[in-house]
Amino acid sequence: MTEVIIVPSPAAGGVLVAEAIVALVRRRADAVLGLATGSSPLPVYTALRPHAALLRDVRGFALDEYVGLPAGHPESYRAVIEREVVVPLGLDPARVRVPGDDLAEGLGYEASLADAGDRYEAAIAAAGGVDLQLLGIGATGHIGFNEPGSSFASRTRVKTLTEQTRRDNARFFAAPDEVPLHCITQGLGTILAARHLVLLAFGAAKAAALAAAVEGPVTSSLPGSAIQLHGRVTVVVDEAAASALRFADYYRHAWVHKPAWQGL
Ligand code: F6R
Repeated sequence: MTEVIIVPSPAAGGVLVAEAIVALVRRRADAVLGLATGSSPLPVYTALRPHAALLRDVRGFALDEYVGLPAGHPESYRAVIEREVVVPLGLDPARVRVPGDDLAEGLGYEASLADAGDRYEAAIAAAGGVDLQLLGIGATGHIGFNEPGSSFASRTRVKTLTEQTRRDNARFFAAPDEVPLHCITQGLGTILAARHLVLLAFGAAKAAALAAAVEGPVTSSLPGSAIQLHGRVTVVVDEAAASALRFADYYRHAWVHKPAWQGL
C-alpha cells in the first residue's frame, strides 16, 4: 500500500522518517539504507544526527551519481554523501557505496563505466538488498535519475539527464553548463526491489509530479508512478507538495486514525 503522510514542515517529516530508520536499526544494527541526495532527504539526515551512535554498523547505497565530473568534485554524489551523511552520522565510509565509486579514475566515459551498473547491482545483492530506500521526486517525475521512458524493469545503468533536471540541479553548480549530461542511476526495478520505499517531497514545485506519481496512471512516462507497484510505500509531504492530491483529506483521516502499533 501507499501511505501518504502530510506533515506541517520538512523538519517534522525528517523527524518522522528518522524515527522509522531508528526503529529499523534497533531491529537490525547493520540495516541497509538506500540514500538519496538533493534537498528532499536533508531533514531526515539532520534528524538522524542525535542517533549517530546507533548507526555505526549501518550500510548504505546511494541512488545515483553524475557521470563526467572529475573524481572528488564537491558536487559529485560521492562527495555529497560523504559531507551530508557519512561524516555527520559517523557512518563507516567503506560501508556506504555510490554507483561507480569502485572506479579509481572516477566516472568518466571509460569502458569500465559500461559494467559499473552490474557491479553495483551485485554489491546491493551481496548486502542482502535495501531495507529502506529514501527517494525524492524531480519535476519530470523521476525517482533516482530515471527520467521519463525508463523501464519499470530497469537496473543500475547510465542515463542521459533531461534538460529540465539539469536546470533544476544547476543551483548546486557555478554555471548551468557544468551540470553533467549523464548519470548512473539505480533503475526502477532496483528501487522496487527495496523492502520499504520512503518518498519525500516538499514545496509547491513538487505538487504536480507528486500527485501524478501517487494518484495518476502507472506509466513509464512518469517514472515515480512505479511506486504504486510496490507493497510498502510511505510518502511524506508538506501541505504545499500535497496541494494537488485528490485524496488528501482521506490521507489525513487515515493518519489521524492509524493504529499506534502499526508504525510506518
Ligand atoms: C537524488 C535523486 C533525485 C532527487 C530529485 C529531487 O539522489 O535521485 O531523484 O531526489 O531530483 O531532488 P531535490 O530533493 O533536490 O528536489
